[in-house]
Amino acid sequence: MQKAFHGTLLYFKADPNQTDDALVHLPNHVLFTNNGIIEKVKAYTEVSATEKSNYQWYNFKDQWIVPGFIDTHIHYPQTEMIGAYGEALLEWLEKYTFPTERKFEDYAYAKEISSFFLNELLKNGTTTALVFGSVHKNSVEAFFEEAEQRNLRMICGKVMMDRNAPEYLVDTPESSYKESKELIEKWHNKGRLSYAVTPRFAITSTQKQLEKAGQLLLEYPDVYLHTHLSENQNEIAFTKELFPEAKNYLGVYKQANLLTKKSVFAHCIHLENEEWKDLANHNCSIAFCPTSNLFLGSGLFNLEKAEELNIHVGMGTDVGAGTSFNMLNTLNEAYKVTQLRKGLFPEDNQKSLSPLKAFYLATLGGAKALSLEDQIGKLEPGMEADFNIIDPAVSPLQKLRMKSVKTLEEALFGLQILGNSENIIATFVMGKSN
Ligand code: GUN
Ligand code: ZN
Repeated sequence: MQKAFHGTLLYFKADPNQTDDALVHLPNHVLFTNNGIIEKVKAYTEVSATEKSNYQWYNFKDQWIVPGFIDTHIHYPQTEMIGAYGEALLEWLEKYTFPTERKFEDYAYAKEISSFFLNELLKNGTTTALVFGSVHKNSVEAFFEEAEQRNLRMICGKVMMDRNAPEYLVDTPESSYKESKELIEKWHNKGRLSYAVTPRFAITSTQKQLEKAGQLLLEYPDVYLHTHLSENQNEIAFTKELFPEAKNYLGVYKQANLLTKKSVFAHCIHLENEEWKDLANHNCSIAFCPTSNLFLGSGLFNLEKAEELNIHVGMGTDVGAGTSFNMLNTLNEAYKVTQLRKGLFPEDNQKSLSPLKAFYLATLGGAKALSLEDQIGKLEPGMEADFNIIDPAVSPLQKLRMKSVKTLEEALFGLQILGNSENIIATFVMGKSN
C-alpha cells in the first residue's frame, strides 16, 4: 500500500550538540511510504500528478510529522503500580513492586496488562521500547504476542533474579538460563521483535546467575543486555557487600562479561570515574530516567558527562517508578534535572538541556542507544515508517503560549514543557494508523 503524508517534517539526522545542521525541518513536504517503509520525501510543490493519484493521501498540513518516540527503559508489569507513595528504591521494591510482579505468573493477566501497556505507549506516541517483563517466562510470551499483533518494534526479556527477593519471585541460574534461551530461540528477530537478557540488578542475582547471563550473550551476540546500574546509594552499598571482590558496581557486570555494544544500563546516577570510562570503552548505552529518579529521590543524572565521553543515551520513562508513559513529560523532567544540577553544582559549569537535544534523545538518540538507527528514529528513505502527527498547540494555554514564540526551538520547548498525550494527534506504525 502506497501512502503520502503531507505536513511539516521534523527530525534529527545527528546529535544537535555535535553538529550544527542536525535538525531537519521541512515545512510543506510529503513523506511517501510503501508497505510500511519510507520511500521518499519531497517538497509538496514538486509532487507530480501521477504521485497525487497513485498514493493514498493524508493531509496534516498544519501539523508536525516526527519520528515515533523511543523509550529505552520501562517495566510493563509495573503499569498498575505507577505512583506508589513515599519510598526509596529498595523499600519501594519490597513494599510495592514484588507483590505486584507476582501477579504475572498468571498468563491471562499478563496478556491483559501487556495489551493495556502497549495501548498506553501508543497513545503517548511511543512506538519502540526496551521493556522489563517479570521473572515469569509467560509474562514475556504474553508481551511478545501482543506486540507482534500490533506489528511494533519492541525489545523485552524475562527478569533473572535468584536471591534477595521473596521466594515466590525467584528463579535459579539454571532455570533462568534455560527459559531465557527458549524465549530467544522463539522470539529474537521474529518480525520486529528482539530479546534482551535481563538480570534485574546485581543485588538480586548470584555471581553464578550473572555468569549464565554472560553465557547467553556469548551464544547469541546479537541479543541485548538490559539491567539497572548505580541508581541509589543504599543499592550501591549493598552491592559492594555482596560482591566484595568487584572493583565497583559496574565491575560486577563486567566480570560476568555483560558489557557489550548492546548493553543498556538504566540510571547510572552515582558512577565512579572508572565506571564511566568502562561504559565508554565497551560502547554500552545508558537510559536516562528523570521522572523515576526524581520520584524515588535517587539523584540527578549527569547528562553532560555522558556526552563528553560519547556514550549513547536514550530516554527511559521507567514506569512504574517513573510517573508517566509520556515522552514529553519525561523530557520536561529531564530539563529540570539539568536545571537542578546547574543550581546545585555551579562549579561544574553545566548547560541546561536544550529542546533540540531533548527531542534528539527521544528519537534518534534512543535509536542509537538501542543500535536501531538504521531502522527507526529518522524520517529518511529506507527507514521503517513509525511516526507521530503532533500539534504543538491544542489547549487554550498552549495556543496562547505559541502565539509569542519566535523560533522553532522555542516552539519545541513549549511542547516539551506544556505538552501531553493530547498533542499526539495520531501515531502510525509501519505506515498504519493506530
Ligand atoms: N532496580 C531493580 N529493580 C528495579 C525496578 O523495578 N525499578 C527501578 N527503578 N530500579 C530497579
Ligand atoms: Zn527500571
